[in-house]
Amino acid sequence: MRSNQPLFRLLTLCLFVFTLAACQSETPTPLVPAPEFEIEVGTDPHSFAEYEKVSIEHLSMDLSVNMTAQRLEGHVIYRLDRHEPGWQRLILDTRDLDIQDVTVLRPDGSYMGVSWRLGESQGHLGQPLVIVLPAGIEQVRVDYASKPEAFGLQWLNGEQTSSGKPFMFSQSQPHYARTWVPLQDTPAVRYTFDANIQAPSDLMVVMGADGNPEAINETGVYAFNMPQPIPSYLMAIAVGELKFESIGPRSGVYAEPDWIERAANEFAVLEEMIEIGEDLYGPYRWGRYDLLVLPPSFPFGGMENPRLSFLTPTIIAGDGSLLALVAHELAHSWSGNLVTNAAWRDLWLNEGFTVYFEARIMEALYGKKVRDMLAKLAWDGLVETVAQADEADRQLVRDLSERDPEEAFMRVPYDMGRFFLDWLEVRFGREALDAFLRAYFDEFAFESIDTETFRAYAIENLFERYPNQATIEEMDAWLYTPGLPEFAIAPESDAFEQVDAQASQWLAGELALSELPADEWSVHEWRHFLTGLNGQMDLVRMEAMDQQFELTQSQNVEIVFLWLLLSIEAQYPPGIDRLEEFLLEVGRNKFTQPLYAALADTDWGREWAIAVYEQAKSGYHPLTRQASERALDLSSDIIGPN
Ligand code: BES
Ligand code: ZN
Repeated sequence: MRSNQPLFRLLTLCLFVFTLAACQSETPTPLVPAPEFEIEVGTDPHSFAEYEKVSIEHLSMDLSVNMTAQRLEGHVIYRLDRHEPGWQRLILDTRDLDIQDVTVLRPDGSYMGVSWRLGESQGHLGQPLVIVLPAGIEQVRVDYASKPEAFGLQWLNGEQTSSGKPFMFSQSQPHYARTWVPLQDTPAVRYTFDANIQAPSDLMVVMGADGNPEAINETGVYAFNMPQPIPSYLMAIAVGELKFESIGPRSGVYAEPDWIERAANEFAVLEEMIEIGEDLYGPYRWGRYDLLVLPPSFPFGGMENPRLSFLTPTIIAGDGSLLALVAHELAHSWSGNLVTNAAWRDLWLNEGFTVYFEARIMEALYGKKVRDMLAKLAWDGLVETVAQADEADRQLVRDLSERDPEEAFMRVPYDMGRFFLDWLEVRFGREALDAFLRAYFDEFAFESIDTETFRAYAIENLFERYPNQATIEEMDAWLYTPGLPEFAIAPESDAFEQVDAQASQWLAGELALSELPADEWSVHEWRHFLTGLNGQMDLVRMEAMDQQFELTQSQNVEIVFLWLLLSIEAQYPPGIDRLEEFLLEVGRNKFTQPLYAALADTDWGREWAIAVYEQAKSGYHPLTRQASERALDLSSDIIGPN
């Protein structure tokens, strides 16, 4: 690319003269194709953006939502920051987009067509959109539409929602924003935006931005504004029949009508959580904090979209027992949204900090016993993952340059990241670590940083300020050496020790089920208990437990999930019936993927699972389809669309 530069300059100069003479293009094809040169990925291996040369400073979107054609249609205008004024092209990331026209705004206010071209498609990275950028131009406009198969959007029809109205929502992290907006789709670039969205007049539009409505607007036109700069993976939109219920002065919840009361009750503690977050790490800097409850096909537990976290309805257990997930998404308002990983190799800066912060919020709300139980559950899972993972995946900072950034999201950046911070807390003391973290969030607020920037800051402000508590070599072992360091501190939980003793007594026939103190167990104790029964269940035990505790009918998704895994193992008929219902309704990958994988592992279950999957898949998000097909070992050419 760089060796072609003089030729490229000459060509673009000619093009510039030519395009200056042309007026705004009405045609959907470029005036003259942009010059050919080999396009390589940029500094971020998961984006084509050359953001050191020119970067997006502000984005204005004008889109209409076509629920029938399952397309977003309209245009975006980019205001650019030209770091190298002579630089003559802008490369945007796109994937599966219909690019119709590219124009630039001249200083006199008129638009003019410019040369552009879509490069070859490069798998999950998509296609670079190369735009010739004449000198002095600071605004570019792209007219486009998304396609129904956009990976970052899910379109549900009226039969697939509880309201009976169609629904659409986005999931942009890690690199799917490019499937619904052409962007410099790298967390290294932050920009502000405003948006005008037109939707059918019986639906409501919400965005991860300021301007979310409290009631439906019958014109169907919604205006949004995002005054704080955000990275592209935090771009978020949802459209559907939504109701809003206020929780606190700056917080509330959106959900389909059927869910709204249950949601508002479940999340009543939200305002208190925000205050705990502020006490720990400084002011909440985003204005409002609302929650959006999505249909059960939402592929994740939650997504930290700014000002409006997206949540699965499966965490609404009726008793607030699964609120750690809300604490997690809220915590991202500091770790991730305020201070962002510059590339996906540094994901632990987002997720590891967030899991630590989540634990601190849970401790402040529910006490140390709950924190210890959650820590122990996480530790046990992490130890198992680390034992199974490839060597290169067993450390916090991983080279992902040749891989799909999706692969960044394993337990290691989450839980090993968290235990690294737990370890810092033990070594330096809570007070010193909290002061350090607070200063860190201030220092790097609204910036995207890499691990090395964190490391240098930690050396200066923690390791050197409080000498002889821990060594830099120890920190580097966490960051860059495979496996959990042997000096890592394993959490302990008395509560689980009791559960273990009681479980063994029951299995040995020394204790009746009715004698287990299960009424006093929290969901965490249940999780530990059920996980420990792996490999020990037969039909007789399953039936006895179900009779005693009605686990097949449990309303707590974490308990149901573990019970369904045991049902697969024991081939327990009532459990298998519930499993079918569950797979037809829920598309949350954390559950569907292991359930399909467990079924595929049995001699009876794979065919049955494929039949259920065939029925369920039209309601699944593209990400859930991909993961389910992998779990069932189906290549995508066997299973066609819908
Ligand atoms: N940022 C993630 C969601 C995500 C995960 C996006 C993977 C893209 C790829 C979110 O903050 C998250 O971690 N959610 C977890 C819940 C959390 C409590 C561990 C989830 O959805 O399970
Ligand atoms: Zn997270």
